[in-house]
Amino acid sequence: STEQALPLRPILVGLMGSGKSSIGKRLAAKLDLPLIDLDEYIVEKADRSIPEIFEQDGELAFRKMETEALCEVISKPAVIATGGGAVLSETNRRILQEHSPVIWLKASPEFLARRIEGDSNRPLIAEGDTLKKLQEQVEVRYPLYEACADFVLPRGDMKKKQVLQAIL
Ligand code: S3P
Repeated sequence: STEQALPLRPILVGLMGSGKSSIGKRLAAKLDLPLIDLDEYIVEKADRSIPEIFEQDGELAFRKMETEALCEVISKPAVIATGGGAVLSETNRRILQEHSPVIWLKASPEFLARRIEGDSNRPLIAEGDTLKKLQEQVEVRYPLYEACADFVLPRGDMKKKQVLQAIL
């Protein structure tokens, strides 16, 4: 038969700081695919930074851009690193559920807080207690990641290199 193997297009999900972009970059290099970082894609398209978009247009407008961006990139042959909140939208979840493999880099709020504390490029943790905000996100988002993911990797227990090996 002339049937060809479907191209592998892994998509990474998980909370802020779980390593979607950096592990995505290494994974893309290994698979000889480009990496599409959804946040960067949005920033380039809007010609504004994430904090600027949040400040000027609000989170809801950002979420619309995020859905539009996901629709545009989902069928490209690439590794896709999503933003932590991409699973909040039902439309996005449906898109992710129809796509495989979706890989959840699962990490505890304690692990993540140490990594992202004070990051000025992340408007959702710009003010207040980072750990507490992450704990709230865990409540809301863990079930959503769970609903979309084909594979779950315990990011906190493994070094980046090991996570990469496990994905491969
Ligand atoms: C967000 C995560 C960010 C970015 C935006 C909102 C979130 O992406 O999309 O600041 O809601 O968790 P990262 O997960 O890459 O930090």
